[in-house]
Amino acid sequence: MALKSHLNPDPILLDVADEKGFLSPQEIFARSGPLELEIGSGKGAFLMQMAVAFPDRNFIGIEWANAYARYAADRFRRHGFQNVRMVHGEAIWWIRIHIADNTLDAMHVYFPDPWPKTRHHKRRLIQQPFLQQALRVLKPLAHLNIVTDHAEYFAHIRLTLAEFGHFSLEPFESPLRSVGRNFMVGTNFEKKYAAQNRPFYSVTAVKPGGMQ
Ligand SMILES: C[S@@+](CC[C@H](N)C(=O)[O-])C[C@H]1O[C@@H](n2cnc3c(N)ncnc32)[C@H](O)[C@@H]1O
Repeated sequence: MALKSHLNPDPILLDVADEKGFLSPQEIFARSGPLELEIGSGKGAFLMQMAVAFPDRNFIGIEWANAYARYAADRFRRHGFQNVRMVHGEAIWWIRIHIADNTLDAMHVYFPDPWPKTRHHKRRLIQQPFLQQALRVLKPLAHLNIVTDHAEYFAHIRLTLAEFGHFSLEPFESPLRSVGRNFMVGTNFEKKYAAQNRPFYSVTAVKPGGMQ
């Protein structure tokens, strides 16, 4: 059995053998449907709302911090969600191994760690290796949504996207706007920074239509 579910009593916290390679929504969720992925889900606040608002879509959250990944998975399990899974791991590595080309209907990156010190910039998520994976796994015309509170990181993100090319850049629109939410993404960091009246910076990078 490639999915280690027989070893893992938690069906929400996905534990997949590396050698399994690419996964399909059918394997993970036992159903087909659109697949969206959030990187750095923290305590899972964004996916909680998406899972309720869009029951026909499937969602995966990838979170590096073990305690947060488990916290989010526990929330999803207690709500009985069938359409959301958590992964504890490093996102670029996990995507490279487990997500096939042209698979994702959307990617979400909300309040990524800004790593403000110059000597730490190399730790930032949004760099060329990440964009290469995003371009590979998104379907044509699918969106990569990014929101941050950090002006300097946002300038770096815009520059990195421009240097990478391929994506067209559009204004960000909240994925939850269509269900009447009046915040951007509703994550813990958004709530914390909104209370401090910090400005937010956002962009949607769209994969070209003709690109497979
Ligand atoms: C500043 S927090 C934001 C959490 C959440 N998105 C929010 O807005 O409340 C960034 C999160 O991204 C996670 N993270 C950073 N780099 C990651 C990576 N390469 N793969 C997976 N998770 C990552 C961190 O562990 C952290 O929980």
